[in-house]
Amino acid sequence: MSLTFALAPTDLSALESDALIIGVYSGEDGATLAPNHLSEDTAEGVSELLEILNVTGSADQLVRLPGVEDSEAGILVLIGLGAPGEDETERVDALRYAAGSAVRQLPDLEEVTFDLPVTTTRELEAVAFGATLGSFSEEGLKVKSADSLKPGVQTVLIASELEGDSAEEALERGLILGEATNGARTLVNVPPSHLYPETFAEVATELVEDLPEVSARVYDYDQLLEGGFGGIAGVGQGSVRKPALVVLEYRPEGAQHHVALVGKGITFDTGGNSLKPAASMTTMKCDMAGAASVLHAVLAIAELGLPVAVTGYLCLAENMPGGYALRPEDVLTMRDGRTVEVLNTDAEGRLVMADGIALASESQPDVIVDIATLTGAAMAALGLRTAALMGDSEIRTRVLDAGEAAGEDYWPLPLKSYLRASMNTPVADIANMGERYGSAMVAGLFLREFVGKNDQGERIPWAHLDIAGPAFNEKAPYGYTPKEGTGFGTATLVNFVASYAE
Ligand code: BES
Ligand code: ZN
Ligand code: ZN
Repeated sequence: MSLTFALAPTDLSALESDALIIGVYSGEDGATLAPNHLSEDTAEGVSELLEILNVTGSADQLVRLPGVEDSEAGILVLIGLGAPGEDETERVDALRYAAGSAVRQLPDLEEVTFDLPVTTTRELEAVAFGATLGSFSEEGLKVKSADSLKPGVQTVLIASELEGDSAEEALERGLILGEATNGARTLVNVPPSHLYPETFAEVATELVEDLPEVSARVYDYDQLLEGGFGGIAGVGQGSVRKPALVVLEYRPEGAQHHVALVGKGITFDTGGNSLKPAASMTTMKCDMAGAASVLHAVLAIAELGLPVAVTGYLCLAENMPGGYALRPEDVLTMRDGRTVEVLNTDAEGRLVMADGIALASESQPDVIVDIATLTGAAMAALGLRTAALMGDSEIRTRVLDAGEAAGEDYWPLPLKSYLRASMNTPVADIANMGERYGSAMVAGLFLREFVGKNDQGERIPWAHLDIAGPAFNEKAPYGYTPKEGTGFGTATLVNFVASYAE
């Protein structure tokens, strides 16, 4: 069930929700209430309590207080906004985070009112986006008990002076971005027993049915073999669950640009015959997070009606060991005719992605962006909340801007050409492994080899997003980020495509 948003008047007296939520800033001299629409007396009364209640205003701190006279809301809730932001981006980030954190921490309430310092449509969108992200909840495959059936927050009122079409559009955009991200999270969390290439392809096919401008084509295993997709077919050959490639086409009227999005969809990565140790295998249902983001980004782009043609490629396979599985030293022929020596079957992501990127190049899009949980090295370099960004500088800049607007953090890594030689092999055009140090960049260089040329004979502009770190949260939830799948990258892709509509 999706959240319902409504703009509310700043006269709080008539608003009958379960909670009125106001912000608190942290500061060196203690916490202060963020601008709100309480009466001066009430605000002063609450402010005087902050110290004794140990309210610091730090991010994720939520304090419930009895309701106040100024509003009909059942309780007053204080949510931390951290230090007051220095610029608009910091303020927007803090609002998105606080709105999400509050909704996540109030699962027993149904209707809440935010009275936060929201003065621009960007801030309004961020509150709606964050609240939607914070409302994400799942029972997974647990037996349903009465306790687990709490629906959580359903309705969110946002008090502000904003009104009219632009404000309504901001709410709608925040909701669509949030639901797209939540959709990707849901897919990541499905156990690999239940989500494998065939079921993933079914989900994709069903989801596009309601959207007349989006079509889905599924290549099954035989079609992959016939079509020369040696990477996807090869990685998937060791599993009884055969691989698939899904191509999603969104073709709106009047589009001036065509963006290709390629996602890694390894529904489980055991490492294959180069088997992973048990401890590194237990999060590997997340190895299809890139494909989940591409799928939900394409759906959201269509829902928003963005005037940009988009093709999404979901490169789906299960990487298993066994009698039919790839061996180290096997050689594969990829979609573009190039040959690859498989030196490590755990470097499977680049094999499926190479085919996706090669196929994407055939339709000569203006730009290709690929997104993949590709390397442990990207996590080692940038941690769990920042994705690695590689590729052409103009595209990187666009991705950075799109990510910033989505509250998703990227940091560029260089593609140093000296590393290419480490993938040389006497038996094929390239090997799927090279120099150990810098292996996030080695993987990026490998993918770049499969980016084709455009009409002018130039390599198609391209960027590569390695989301191995931020795709999955093994720790406690924070802000609007839940445990397990985070949906990271989905909103970036939507914003990235939107940048071609201008
Ligand atoms: N799926 C993994 C990368 C990964 C690791 C994603 C941890 C999320 C969390 C990928 O297929 C892999 O195993 N990469 C290897 C490549 C190596 C064998 C060249 C890696 O990074 O160790
Ligand atoms: Zn792997
Ligand atoms: Zn993998």
